[in-house]
Order: sequence, then structure tokens, then C-alpha cells
Amino acid sequence: MKKNRKFHIQTFGCQMNERDSETIAGLLSKMGYSVTAERKEADVAVINTCSVREHADKRFFGTLGQLKKIKEARPDFVVCVCGCMMQQRHITDVIKTKYPWVDVIFGTHNIHELPVLLEEGEKEKENRTLFKKNGIMERGKGLISVWENGEDIVEDLPSSRLYRHKAFVNIIYGCNNFCTYCIVPYTRGRERSRKPADILNEVKKLAADGVKEITLLGQNVNSYKGITGSADVSHGETNNGKKHTDFADLIYMLQGTEGIERIRFMTSHPKDLSDKLIDAYKNCSKLCSAIHLPMQSGSNSILERMNRKYTKEQYMDLVAKLRIASPGICITTDIIVGFPGETEQDFQDTLDVIKKVCFDSAFTFIYSVRKGTPAEKYEDQIPEDIKHERFRRLVAAVNECSSIKNAAYEGRKEMVLVDGPGKKDPGKLAGRTEGYKLVDFEGPLSLQGEFVYVDITKSNTFSLTGELDISHV
Ligand code: 5AD
Ligand code: SF4
Repeated sequence: MKKNRKFHIQTFGCQMNERDSETIAGLLSKMGYSVTAERKEADVAVINTCSVREHADKRFFGTLGQLKKIKEARPDFVVCVCGCMMQQRHITDVIKTKYPWVDVIFGTHNIHELPVLLEEGEKEKENRTLFKKNGIMERGKGLISVWENGEDIVEDLPSSRLYRHKAFVNIIYGCNNFCTYCIVPYTRGRERSRKPADILNEVKKLAADGVKEITLLGQNVNSYKGITGSADVSHGETNNGKKHTDFADLIYMLQGTEGIERIRFMTSHPKDLSDKLIDAYKNCSKLCSAIHLPMQSGSNSILERMNRKYTKEQYMDLVAKLRIASPGICITTDIIVGFPGETEQDFQDTLDVIKKVCFDSAFTFIYSVRKGTPAEKYEDQIPEDIKHERFRRLVAAVNECSSIKNAAYEGRKEMVLVDGPGKKDPGKLAGRTEGYKLVDFEGPLSLQGEFVYVDITKSNTFSLTGELDISHV
């Protein structure tokens, strides 16, 4: 291999993809590549794709167009595409026919194969032809390896983490819920929980490496079901001689890890949010007073058609219980507008819950038809103009709540874990409160990765502004 080879990764989508990209970066670093922030300087470019909405598909194909230009100028530039989109046959077929110059395609279940795929690609390079035919670049052979299903979880893969002081920790892969709009169960496969001992070992290693905050990741962390060996701490029941650790047990178990000061998780499905987990907010001081609890819609008939398995009333009961267990808890959500069959009254029900709950913030989405999902077949799709008009009202309602919630922080002193220079204003520091509110303030870069106290002086819709309390530094 040529010396000083560089890689660049572009990640679309959710935290699961971000975490996967850390593994991809770890694998490439182990192979001797170093990271570059400039794609045009890279020898290997990786695009980790998302397929949750059509918008992400379009951005991916736009990115491929840019990569083609680099490839034309530099034929030994290696292009790898991976992630959720690659788990769909109709997408890989398009890539094979329209973008045959893509070198390596792999999926969400076989990231660990990347070194082999790249090496195979290198070996074959001389045999490959790269030529232009009718204006379209073609190549003899690209490597495609996509596994339809996730098999055993591959442990101990290297990882190049984005931050030193905080880390994502996968606890469960896949999803069994089949919400009718969602592509994830088809791209990420069925639920597979990691063993509690493997998670604990990883968290201990992270803590030893200086990590103070962990975010436990899964499409639905609440259905975590870890099989516990005899050496592990177990709180679960015996079933066929095997013990099960549920999600609340896992939090209690991780709470004991020295060095870890904050525990977060995402995402939780409301139908599986147990009283035991709600109690953990009372009993685990390290569990941050924050929850991301996707509501999707406030209309019972739409929730039923979405196959969400809870009602608006049950959702609001959960919010009430959470607020009793953890007063002041920051509650964020996901909301889809324009799902097939949504009437103005259904939409009003959604606005009603938003007002009543007053979310700290919400990710808002216009329903996007996903090939292969049940909702694709629903005939009562909502016209685009109505979807967009409702979306505008949805965003206004959500932003109003965010402003109200954030305004309550003015005059408070908040403990903030400093992430580093702010994205919007790199001259300032940015960090997160326990409730995951973004705070910017003036301070030295040496505070990166430290907990500090910040006096909140101003609130904005999406963030807080403050002054560092130097008496605590
Ligand atoms: N259209 C719009 N939004 C969607 N989401 C998932 N699938 C779709 C879709 N087809 C949203 C849901 C989910 C979030 C990650 O993306 O709100 O919680
Ligand atoms: Fe998709 Fe529903 Fe699974 Fe979330 S719970 S990943 S929305 S199918």
C-alpha cells in the first residue's frame, strides 16, 4: 500500500450511522490510513448513507455526482458506499448500472468486512478497466458485499471516536416494530442485543480513556434484552437457565462505572417505556434528566395506522409519570406530518399534544413514502401542498414551545460538559447541560471535555447563552 494514504467519511442520518462511521474510521486507521477533512485530498472516500427519508436518498446521489468528478481526474481514487441505502436491492441495482465506477458497496451488517473488501479491491485493480463509453464511466468489476441479515454481533472492532470526553455505545441493533412508514426494520434487520458484559467492558474501557458521558444507542433501547452469563451482574428472571438483563437493569449496572458521570440513551419507543425505567430516573443519579420519546402523531387513528401501539392519552400519561419521577426533565420528540389519511382534525390533535406537553424540542418531518413499507401502498396519500402547509404550522408550534422552555433557564446556573469550540461561533465554547441543551459561552479551549458551571444570561429558540462561572473553574 502507498504511504500516507488518507480517508474521508461523509455520514448521513442518525446516531447509529455516526457510530458506524466511527467504526469505519477505526478500521481504516488500523489499516494505516489517516483521516482528512478534505474529500478531494483523500485516497479512499466512504459515504455512509441513510434511507429514512427520500431527501437523504437525493443527497446521496448528489454526492455521488461530485465523487465522479474526482474519480475522472484521479482513477485510483477509491469510492466506498455503505449504510442503510445499500441494504435495499433497488438501490444497489441503480448504483451498479448508473454508477459502475463505485469501487466497494457494503451494508449495515458487514462493516467489519471493509478491510478485506478494500484489499481485494487493491489486488484486482490491475485487472480492472476504467473507461468511458457513451459519456458514461464504466468499470469491469466493483465489489459488492451486502448481507441481508445481521448475524452474531461482532465485538471489539476498532473505533475512532469523534470526542474524547463522550461516546456512543451501541446496546441493541435492529428493530422489530415495523412502524408502517419506516424503512429501518428492512435496512437494520431484527433486534439483537449485545451482552451486558460486553457493554460493561466497553464502558469501563471508555471511562479509562477519559470518557465522562455515554449515550446508549439503539433503534429502541427499551426492548434491550441482554443474555447474562454467570459472571455478570444480573437482575433479571431465569428463563431456560439463562438470565436476562433488561434496559433498566443495564442502566443500574453501568451507573457503577467509575469515571462515567452522565448516562443518556436514545431512542425509546413509548410502548416499551417501563415503570422500572421511569424509576431509574429517581434512583440513578448519573442518568441525565432528559428523554427523547418519539410521539410521531397526536391522533389516535393515525397512531394506529402507523402501528405505534399507544394512544395520545397513554403518551401523555408517560410524560406525566416522567415529570413526577424527574421534575424538570427535558422531553424531546419526533413528529411526522402528512402521514396518509391525516385529516385537519388529526393534525389538530398533534398540535394539541405539542401544546399540552410543551416539548423542549422536536425533530419534525414531512411524511416521505419509502419503497417496501406498508404505508407506501396506502391510497390516501396527502398532497404535497397540504403537507408543507401543515409542516409550517407544526414547526411554528414546536418552536414556540422550545422558546418557552428555554426562557425558563434565564438566570439559572447550569452544569455544562464542554464539547469544544462552537459550530456557529468557533470563537466561543459550546457544551451541553444535563437536559442536553446547547449552551455557548466565552472561555478558554483548555476547558474542552470538562464540566463547568455557566450562568445562563439569554435564551434562544435552539440554544442558551451564558457566562462561565470562574469561581468553580
Ligand atoms: N417519513 C418521514 N419521517 C420518517 N421517519 C421515519 N420514517 C419516516 C418517513 N417515511 C422519522 C420518524 C423517526 C425519525 C428517525 O424519522 O419520526 O422517529
Ligand atoms: Fe422505525 Fe418504528 Fe423501528 Fe423507530 S421503532 S426504527 S420508527 S420501525
